[in-house]
Amino acid sequence: MSPVPIEIVLPGQARVDALAVPVSLPLTGEGARIVDEKLGGRLARLVESGELRGDRNEALLLHVDAGLDAPRVVVVGLGKRDELDLDAFRSAGAAAAHALQRVGGTLAWLLDDSLDVPLPEQAGALVEGTILGGYSPGAWKTQDGEKRPKAVERIVIGHFDTQELREAAERAALLAERTNRARDLANMPPNELNPHTLGERAKELAQEHEHLTCDVLATRELDELEMGALSAVGRGSRNEPRLIVLRYDPPGARGDVVLGLVGKSITFDTGGISLKSAPSMEDMKGDMAGGAGCLHGIGAVAALGLPVRAIAVLAAAENMPGGDAFRPGDILRAANGKTIEIINTDAEGRLVLADALWYARREGATHILDLATLTGAMELALGDLYAGYFANDDEWSERIRRAGDRSGDLLWPFPLHRRYRRYVDSAFADMKNGSTLRQGSPVLAAKFLEEFSGDGPWAHVDMAGPGFLERSRGDYLRVPGGTGYGVRLIAQLTELLASEL
Ligand code: BES
Ligand code: MN
Ligand code: ZN
Repeated sequence: MSPVPIEIVLPGQARVDALAVPVSLPLTGEGARIVDEKLGGRLARLVESGELRGDRNEALLLHVDAGLDAPRVVVVGLGKRDELDLDAFRSAGAAAAHALQRVGGTLAWLLDDSLDVPLPEQAGALVEGTILGGYSPGAWKTQDGEKRPKAVERIVIGHFDTQELREAAERAALLAERTNRARDLANMPPNELNPHTLGERAKELAQEHEHLTCDVLATRELDELEMGALSAVGRGSRNEPRLIVLRYDPPGARGDVVLGLVGKSITFDTGGISLKSAPSMEDMKGDMAGGAGCLHGIGAVAALGLPVRAIAVLAAAENMPGGDAFRPGDILRAANGKTIEIINTDAEGRLVLADALWYARREGATHILDLATLTGAMELALGDLYAGYFANDDEWSERIRRAGDRSGDLLWPFPLHRRYRRYVDSAFADMKNGSTLRQGSPVLAAKFLEEFSGDGPWAHVDMAGPGFLERSRGDYLRVPGGTGYGVRLIAQLTELLASEL
C-alpha cells in the first residue's frame, strides 16, 4: 500500500474522471464560478431551484457533455460559512468519495479562495476526507470485484503548484492512508489478528522504514521482566501475550525528548472470567484500536521523517475465560513491583498497560501518551466524537489538546485529582483494578494507570467512543468499525514537538 498520488496543476490542465467543487453559499469561490460559467449557469440555477444548498454532506453528481476536462462534476457542501472548520472540508472530501464510489479513478479538487481557511489547509483536509471517506470495511466480502465500492486512485488539486500546497496535500494523503491501515487492523477478525499476528504486522511495518525497528517479546521474556499483569491477562488464551516494541531513532533528532506511545492491544476482550454479555461482544475485536493507532502513528512519524525519537509499546493479549485464566480475587505483581487485587477480569486494559507504561519509561520515554479503548463509561459520556483524556502535566496536556484539535482526533480533558486515589485502594494489596461502586469508572482507571506512569509527563487517552464505531458518524467516518483514531493525533503531536527544536 502506498498513499494516493497527488498532482497539483492549474484547473483545466488535466483530464480527470470527476471534478469536485466544495461550496458554501453564496457561490463566490473562484472554482465554483468557473464551473458555473463553463456549464452555462447550471450551478446558479440549481441554487435557485433549491437543489444545491451547500449543506454539510450534500453531494450533487452532475454529468456533463462538454466544456470541462471531466465527464462529471460533483458539487459538495461545506455547510455555513461561519461554521467552517477543517472537519467541514474533511466531510466534503468524504461526501465526494462516496458519490464517486461507482467510478473511482482520478478526482480533481477545486479550492475556494473566498473562504477564511487557507488554501493549503483546504487541500489537506479535502484530500484527507477523500481517502478516509473512500474506506470500505468489507474486505472479507467475496462478491465479485465489479460490485465493490471503488476508492479514488489519484487526486489532482486544481491550482498553481506551490511548495506549501504540495506539502499539505501529500502529508494528508500519507496520514489518511496510515489511518486507513490502522482501521484495517481494528476491523480484522480476532481469528486472524491475535497477539502473535499483530507482532508480525509490526515487524512488517518496521521493514518499510529506515530508522524504525521492531522487537516482539514473548512469554519467556515477559516472565524474565516479571510482567505479572500482562501475563495474567493473557493466560486464559492459547494465543499467548506479546509486548510489541517499535523504536524510531532518526538521525539529527532532538536529544531531550523520547516520545513514548503506549497502546492497549487486546485482540479480543470477552471479559474473561467476569464474562461480558453477548450483545455487541463482536465489537471487542476493536479493543486493540489504541495499539493500532500507536503502531501506525509511529509508522506515520517515520514516513514523514520527523526528527523526534519515539518508542511505541503495544501490550497485546487476548482476554479469555479458561481453565488457566486469572480470576477475581487474584493478587498480581506488576513489573514495577506493585501488587494488584483483581476485582473484575474485564478491567484488563489497565493491567496490560501497567506493564507497558513501566517498560516505556525503562526504555527512556520522557513524554508518554497512552491510547486505550478503556471504559464503556467514557463512550457513554462523550459518545463517538471525542475521546476523554487525563494528564499529570499542564504543558503536556495543552500540547495534546492542540494536536487533537488540529488533527481531527478530538479529545477533552478529565480530572486526575489526588483525592480520587481512594477509588483504587485495596484492603489486601497496593491497589485494586476495579470497584463494585458504579462511580467514576474512567477516573478510577486513570488513577490506576498513574501508579505505573513513572516520572515525567504522561497522558492517558480513553478512546472507547471514537476508537471503533457501531455505525456511521455522519461526517468523514462513514462506515462502522475501526476509525484509526490516534494516527493523526500522534503525527500532529510529533510535528509540534519537532517545531520546538
Ligand atoms: N474494552 C472494554 C471497554 C469498552 C467497552 C470499550 C465498550 C469500548 C466499548 C474494557 O476492557 C472493559 O471491559 N471495561 C469495563 C471496566 C469495568 C469492568 C471496571 C467497563 O468499562 O465496563
Ligand atoms: Mn474488558
Ligand atoms: Zn477491554
